[in-house]
Formats: sequence, structure tokens, C-alpha cells
Amino acid sequence: MSQKTIRNDFVSEKTALITGASSGIGKSFAEILAKEGYNLILVARRKHKLDALAETLADQFSVETKVIVADLSIIEQITNVVEIIKSLDHINVLVNNAGFGLSSSFAKGDYERQLAMVNVHVVASYMLSRAAVPIMLRKNEGLIINVSSMSGLMIKFGDVTYTTTKAFLITFSESLQEELRNTNINIHALCPGMTYSEFHDTKELEEFDKSTVPKRLWMSSAEVVKKSLKAARKGKVVYVPGFLNHLSLFLSNMFIVRRLSQWIISRNEKKT
Ligand SMILES: NC(=O)c1ccc[n+]([C@@H]2O[C@H](COP(=O)([O-])OP(=O)(O)OC[C@H]3O[C@@H](n4cnc5c(N)ncnc54)[C@H](OP(=O)(O)O)[C@@H]3O)[C@@H](O)[C@H]2O)c1
Repeated sequence: MSQKTIRNDFVSEKTALITGASSGIGKSFAEILAKEGYNLILVARRKHKLDALAETLADQFSVETKVIVADLSIIEQITNVVEIIKSLDHINVLVNNAGFGLSSSFAKGDYERQLAMVNVHVVASYMLSRAAVPIMLRKNEGLIINVSSMSGLMIKFGDVTYTTTKAFLITFSESLQEELRNTNINIHALCPGMTYSEFHDTKELEEFDKSTVPKRLWMSSAEVVKKSLKAARKGKVVYVPGFLNHLSLFLSNMFIVRRLSQWIISRNEKKT
């Protein structure tokens, strides 16, 4: 892991740490929180993207920005981020957003990538939250957003590792919020549907044909993040952005929607 020096003397009292800030939903969180005046700690692997974003947001919104380059599939590198969180005087917002997709069978898929996914989605979110909550409790204030997916709520087919790691984030958020119910700390599981980002551009999802999903079902990252922050601040714990996503969820147990979803997934399945 390489990192810039993280100082503990942010000028503003508002600090947000965002994982997976180099693109898509995480980048939108960074842009919107910077606009609101938050100092940012941006975490991901691609340093050049983080540096460019950090510089732009610092110039545009006069906030302080720090970059941490870390691969959150590697426990030692998660631990380094944990140590940085523990050294902070305050952390107001933690966004556990880093993630990626897989499209392979549980038995035949790439085992290393499956374990990497468990670390990025589950272990990193767990460890960073465990570091942040005691600091938030000291100030009795904070917000943790765990970026899950509609897949964690409704579609119990598709990639096994993806759906189950995303389901973990939902149960984790609900349980943690329950434990913190008498505090001013909000825990929020964001469950987006189809969102324009780099998510579907990876090698693992290269066979995914976006045109098989109706255009109306897609949302922009910025739209997802604006809705998420609004809902989180109202205390919504599990949140699905977008009316059509709500409708899909409502209809998800109906035969026809299940068949349509299965058809889309089977059309895009990697034959591994
Ligand atoms: N797009 C969708 O349709 C959709 C739907 C539901 C849920 N989601 C969830 O939304 C979250 C954000 O995804 P996105 O749509 O914004 O996709 P994206 O544009 O591909 O962004 C993913 C982010 O995660 C980071 N990341 C991936 N692996 C990492 C690792 N090992 N260590 C550190 N950072 C890592 C990437 O940064 P680097 O490559 O620089 O490390 C990138 O910043 C994910 O958790 C995803 O599961 C997305």
C-alpha cells in the first residue's frame, strides 16, 4: 500500500472516508460530500484516478483530500486503512463502497477471485466499521453507508459469492443499527439496481450485454448517491433507490419477473 501522509488536523470538522472512490458510485459520493464541505479520505487501488479526483475536489470545493492506495482484498492492506481510521480524531461518514462483480459458478469459478470478493465486500466493510464506530460513539455522531445491491435482497440466483456477500452487508447494517439505536449514528445499506459505472466493464463481466437490461432500469451514479444520502439522513436503514427498482423488488417473487431475471442472467453467464 502506498499512501500520502494522513494528518489528523483537518480544518473542517466534517470528514468522510470512501472506499472505491476512483470510479462510479464511490466517485459520486466523493463529489457530493465534497460539495457539502466534507474533507475526504479516498481509498482504492488506482492511484492516478484518486490523485486526479482529490486534486479536482480540493480545488473546486476548498476541502482537504487525502489519498490511500489500498487493495482491500488483502488483509494487511485493510489493516493499514484501519490504523489510519483509528488515528483520526473524528470520522463523520464512512462509505464502504468498493466492490466488483463475478459471473461464474461457485464450484468452477476462480477461487482466488471469490475469496478476494469476500475480503473486499465483507471483511473490509466489517473491519473499517469496527474501527470507525468507537470514534463515532465518542462524538455520538456518524453515518456508515454499506453499498450492497438489490441482488442481496431479491435475486437469490446469479453469482453465489456476489449475492451472499451483498446480503451480509444488509444484515450487518440492520444488526449494527439495532445495537446503536440509542445513539446518533446511522447505518445505511444502499441497495442499488443497475447503475452506470465501470462495474460492468471488467474482465469478469465482459460477456454481460447491457442491452439485455431495459434502459429505464438504469440510473446514474450521481442519482443513486443523492437519493441514498437523503434516505440515510432520514434514518432509512435498508434502501433501494428508484421507483422501478422498488417495483421490481415488489414483483420479485412473481413468476414472470423471476423468469425474466433468470433469462437475463443465463444470457450473460460466463460458461466456466
Ligand atoms: N453498477 C451497478 O450496477 C451496481 C449495482 C448494485 C451494486 N453495485 C455496487 O456498487 C459498488 C460500487 O460499484 P460501481 O458500480 O461504482 O463500480 P465501479 O465503477 O467499478 O467502482 C468500483 C470501485 O471499487 C474499487 N475496488 C474494486 N476492487 C477493489 C479492491 N480490491 N480494493 C480496493 N478498491 C477496489 C474500484 O477501484 P480500483 O479499481 O481503483 O481499486 C472502484 O473505485 C460496488 O460495491 C458494487 O457491488 C453496483
